[in-house]
Amino acid sequence: MEHPLTGSEIRFNTMREKISLLLEEVRTFAAANAENLEQFRIRFLGRKGLLQDMFDEFKTLSVEQKRDVGQLLNELKNAAQDKVNTLMETLYSSNGSSEVETDLTMPVNFRETGTRHPLNIVRNEIIRIFRRLGFTVSEGPEIEDDWHNFSALNFPPEHPARDMQDTFFIEQDPDIALRTHTSSVQIRTMETTKPPIRSIFPGRVYRNEAISARAHCFFHQVEGLYIDKNVSFADLKQTLLYFAREMFAADTQIRLRPSYFPFTEPSAEMDISCNLCGGKGCGFCKYTGWVEILGCGMVDPNVLENCGIDSKVYTGYAFGMGIERITNLKYQVKDLRMFSENDLRFLRQFESSF
Ligand code: DAH
Repeated sequence: MEHPLTGSEIRFNTMREKISLLLEEVRTFAAANAENLEQFRIRFLGRKGLLQDMFDEFKTLSVEQKRDVGQLLNELKNAAQDKVNTLMETLYSSNGSSEVETDLTMPVNFRETGTRHPLNIVRNEIIRIFRRLGFTVSEGPEIEDDWHNFSALNFPPEHPARDMQDTFFIEQDPDIALRTHTSSVQIRTMETTKPPIRSIFPGRVYRNEAISARAHCFFHQVEGLYIDKNVSFADLKQTLLYFAREMFAADTQIRLRPSYFPFTEPSAEMDISCNLCGGKGCGFCKYTGWVEILGCGMVDPNVLENCGIDSKVYTGYAFGMGIERITNLKYQVKDLRMFSENDLRFLRQFESSF
């Protein structure tokens, strides 16, 4: 004859049965509305709910019984929690039950939307302007070798820009550095593409500078390159005039001052008529009426040859501008550090522009 069950064995058996019944109930439960779901949640997961009761009862079982029932109880708890989560999602999402959708007292799914960073707003505008002229857009690596950042661009070995004070070198390898300008992407493009080439290259650049209101150790540039037969300085000038007028105002004037860059010959720096005072002279343009916005020139034949392009057949122009500089001109941001501080009070001011 079977021996009578002990109290703990009876509890053990009933708990197992109860759990499997409840599991079934959880699996088949469907909430008609949010109230239903809340009742379900309270019944199973509430502070005085079924699961809490069962965990209390669980404490009275023997060690082996606990192992068995513990696993089942956890399974039930997880199933109930999963059920509540999934039903919440369907009920509260916009394509959930129509009853909830029309219940205007339900809490909304509040999502804070971000705003575009001012540097991205300006970069996108620069890209749009050059795209209209048929320029394509591409990017190159921020970690560069000496060849692409300096040598192929005709920098002599002793040029001061190669100095440790300007360039961040990767430790132990003097050949590898963070690019100091986006001109490196000119080289990468000319090495791999046959002319005609008409592209711009936006990106981040790095220089070993003490951070202040007027200097930063990283900033952004857009480089431009146009290589074809018969490209002339007049083409460069016309393109830059178009850019300045699209970017600033229809009556913006430009002037080109002779300058020097190792990779262009001749080289120039371009000023625009001060967009704050319209060229009359103000504190911003130091009472000159002009502000500098970019460097440019005709690609030096040495650079073309370094990239395998026949300098007797092809000519081209290049230019490079700082995005921070253009952004400052448009929005008068006086402290460069604001661009990388992620202060929402600053960033939100640019939402509606462009
Ligand atoms: N790479 C120069 C700089 O970082 C900018 C520049 C000047 C780019 C003249 C050019 C150019 O392509 O022709 O200051």
